Amino acid sequence: MARFTLPRDLYHGKGALEALKILTGNRAIVCVGGGSMKKFGFLDKAVSYLKEAGMEVKIFEGIESDPSVETVMRGAEVMSEFQPDWIVAMGGGSPIDAAKAMWIKYEYPEVTFEDMCKVFGLPKLRTKAKFCAISSTSGTATEVTAFSVITDNAKGIKYPLADFEITPDIAIVDPDLAQTMPKKLVAHTGMDAMTHAVEAYVSTAHCDFTDPLALHAIKMIKSALVGSYNGDTEKRSNMHNAQCLAGMAFSNALLGIVHSMAHKTGAAFSDYGAHIIHGAANAMYLPKVIAFNAKNAAVAERYAQIADFIELGGNTVDEKIKLLIEYLRGMNSQLNIPQCIKNYGADSYPVENGFVPEKIFLERVHDIAVNAISDACTGSNPRQPSVEEMEKLLKCCYYDTEVDF
Ligand SMILES: NC(=O)c1ccc[n+]([C@@H]2O[C@H](COP(=O)([O-])OP(=O)(O)OC[C@H]3O[C@@H](n4cnc5c(N)ncnc54)[C@H](O)[C@@H]3O)[C@@H](O)[C@H]2O)c1
Ligand SMILES: [Zn+2]
Repeated sequence: MARFTLPRDLYHGKGALEALKILTGNRAIVCVGGGSMKKFGFLDKAVSYLKEAGMEVKIFEGIESDPSVETVMRGAEVMSEFQPDWIVAMGGGSPIDAAKAMWIKYEYPEVTFEDMCKVFGLPKLRTKAKFCAISSTSGTATEVTAFSVITDNAKGIKYPLADFEITPDIAIVDPDLAQTMPKKLVAHTGMDAMTHAVEAYVSTAHCDFTDPLALHAIKMIKSALVGSYNGDTEKRSNMHNAQCLAGMAFSNALLGIVHSMAHKTGAAFSDYGAHIIHGAANAMYLPKVIAFNAKNAAVAERYAQIADFIELGGNTVDEKIKLLIEYLRGMNSQLNIPQCIKNYGADSYPVENGFVPEKIFLERVHDIAVNAISDACTGSNPRQPSVEEMEKLLKCCYYDTEVDF
């Protein structure tokens, strides 16, 4: 038996933020990130809509990008004091993911971070609060997913929490919030969404319910992402919906090793001054993983179906896969994303010598490979790599060399 779960309600379209007015409850805590929601006036609007709904409102601000276990614990304490019956998380993937983990800890104070990391092992939530997620970036789709990604800074590792219990009750997908994103964020979150859709389509857990969502998302992203990046507001709105469709697909079909590798490399070199931003990591690794997975004939067929669906041309399966890889690399170029870690600058832009020194990469690659293999996303990848293969794959992602194994 398989399960397909989405939020009970999804409010979308311009002005959908107003849906907050119809929530019923006594106390709402609004969780936000570093300040963009406040700066652009969305936080004020959300608070006034919730007050209009008759709720007492508390704001939990300052959730950092790639939120940490410490932030989660701090937020849960604030929730314990305030006793909200609604958790309203607004912003990019980071504040929404952090709020999901705070929600678990708020409902079950005895649960440790290690307990939370047990895949599909959470106790029943909603004994104290319901959850409303409002996305302001067009990529993670965490407003509709069963996932949350929390960083353990001491270990330099990102842990994906996964359980349908943390699928929000309400998602608000209002394109107005996405209009203020800076270009770089559009690029990274957009390629994150593309990776979600492609990985969901080839995942071992894909099904009739997830396939159409994934394919339609890929088609929409193809027609909207570069335009959105270059300032087209209508395409920016289309991307906001497209990433959400991709999220509906992957929340139920799961992901693959592009994400395992992105999770385990993201913070692995933070002592050299930067993170490899989630979406940029995915964008660099996706073409390499396609080449690796496509060595399996049945998986190759699935990638060829994607290429056909977005009309890339080609006559044979091999040709179609080649065209898909070229197409994705072309997107990276148009979005100013490097093709490999070696060329990944501390500011995420392509440079001759990136911030991850070769020597350090080679020293750490074995451990990263071991961690990537044990990531929750590896299990649903359509071809299971050995540690040696993962190490080789990571090296291809560092040097931008061909995957011939
Ligand atoms: N839960 C999931 O299913 C899932 C899926 C993929 C990735 N993730 C995780 O999500 C996190 C990344 O989330 P993200 O890419 O949405 O970025 P983010 O939430 O980390 O935000 C990045 C920056 O963009 C700013 N920002 C957000 N919205 C803005 C807007 N509309 N206008 C201007 N600035 C804005 C934020 O203030 C922040 O500085 C990572 O931790 C990643 O691992 C989660
Ligand atoms: Zn992702």
